[in-house]
This record gives sequence, C-alpha cells and structure tokens, in this order.
Amino acid sequence: MSSPAPVIFAQPAARVPPRLRKEVERILIPETRIASRIRRMSREIERDYKGREMVVVSLLNGTVMFLADLIRNLSLPLRLDFMGVSSYGAGTESGDLVITKELRLDVRGRDVLLVDDILDTGKTLYRMIDKLRALKPRRLRTCVLLNKAARRVEHVKADYVGFEIPDLFVVGYGLDFAESYRNLPFVGVLHEHVYKEGCKKINVVPAAKKRKKRKR
Ligand code: PRP
Repeated sequence: MSSPAPVIFAQPAARVPPRLRKEVERILIPETRIASRIRRMSREIERDYKGREMVVVSLLNGTVMFLADLIRNLSLPLRLDFMGVSSYGAGTESGDLVITKELRLDVRGRDVLLVDDILDTGKTLYRMIDKLRALKPRRLRTCVLLNKAARRVEHVKADYVGFEIPDLFVVGYGLDFAESYRNLPFVGVLHEHVYKEGCKKINVVPAAKKRKKRKR
C-alpha cells in the first residue's frame, strides 16, 4: 500500500512562466516533484502487483499525463484500458456523471488498478469503483495523483495518493478548466477571475449557440 502522500501547502513552489501569469496564480507542484513522486509510487505499485495479471483502467480525460508517466515507470507486464466519465462539464462544480466510454477488456479475476488524476468530492471514483466491482476483478485498487480531502462528499479513499492538496482550483498536468490548461507540465493554481469569468461566459453564451451564430 502507498506510503503517506506528501502534503502540499498553498505557498508558491516555483515561478509561473511569464506568458501564463495572467491566468495561473502560482505553481503548486513543479514537474520535477511530480516526476520523483510518481517514480516512488511506481515502485510501491510494482511491489504490490508483482506476479499478478495487472489491468490498469484509466479515467478519461484528466489522467492523460499522469497515466503516461506512471505506466512508463512500471516495469511489470500490464494491460491498459480506459473508461470515459465526465462530471464537471465546462463549469467548476461537480454535476451529474456521464459515462462517455465503457471498458472493453474483461477484468474478471484480474488485479485492477483504477487511475484518476484527482479525488475531489469522490463522486467519480465512488461510481467507477462500483461499476468495476460488478465486473468481478480479483482485486481492485485505486491510484490518484491528487487528493483534495476538504471537498469530499462520498466516503471513498484512494490506495495510492501522489499528493494531498488544499482546496484550490488546480489545473495542469492533465487537469483542465473548460478543457484548457491540460498541457501545462506542472500543477498550478488558476486565478479566480479566470474561472469566474469563464463560467459566466459559458452560462451566458453556450457553445452550441455560438456555433449557430457563426453559420448565419
Ligand atoms: C475530474 C477529474 C476526476 C473527477 C474528480 O473529471 O478528472 O475524474 O473530476 O472529481 P470528483 O471527485 O468530484 O468526482 P472531469 O469530470 O472534470 O473530466 P476530465 O477528466 O475529462 O477533466
């Protein structure tokens, strides 16, 4: 099982690149720290899954960077599949969950590792654990890069946690706001004005309306 995850506090960890300073308030976890933590988590997962028929199930889309770095550090045979689930839409609050892609691999009797980028209210992980358990894996463990315990609604804990983080709006390293910022190599804190203004725009002019207007 995972060693205690480092606790990240809210102070700046590194300087934000100038081109991003209007949007990203500060870097919370720099890429070097993410990389070293993932290497350590990988060693723990290897130890726990050695000799097992491992299936990694990753939740789209936020895990894109974390998953790539995690599995390239895992020196053991594994199979990989994805499940698509979306909760936030374009806003900031956790809404209803929509399944956008079902699992294709048969996980019955396998040792499954369910990977997500962030454990926030817990609604996503809770629902996906339930869904996977119904497929009768031999063992199911969960792995998240970030744990934001302050906002938990569902009673759910991850087995492997990268970092414990405070209740801040984080983006980067796969995490988005309205599908932006996923490509940042670090985990950063978004300026409040970005998501407040972004949400207003999203609510007032929905994307579908915008597209219709342009066609006319
Ligand atoms: C985000 C994130 C987690 C989930 C965590 O997904 O990737 O899967 O929210 O939130 P919760 O603990 O409150 O359920 P999102 O629905 O935004 O989709 P994404 O992965 O495509 O960004």
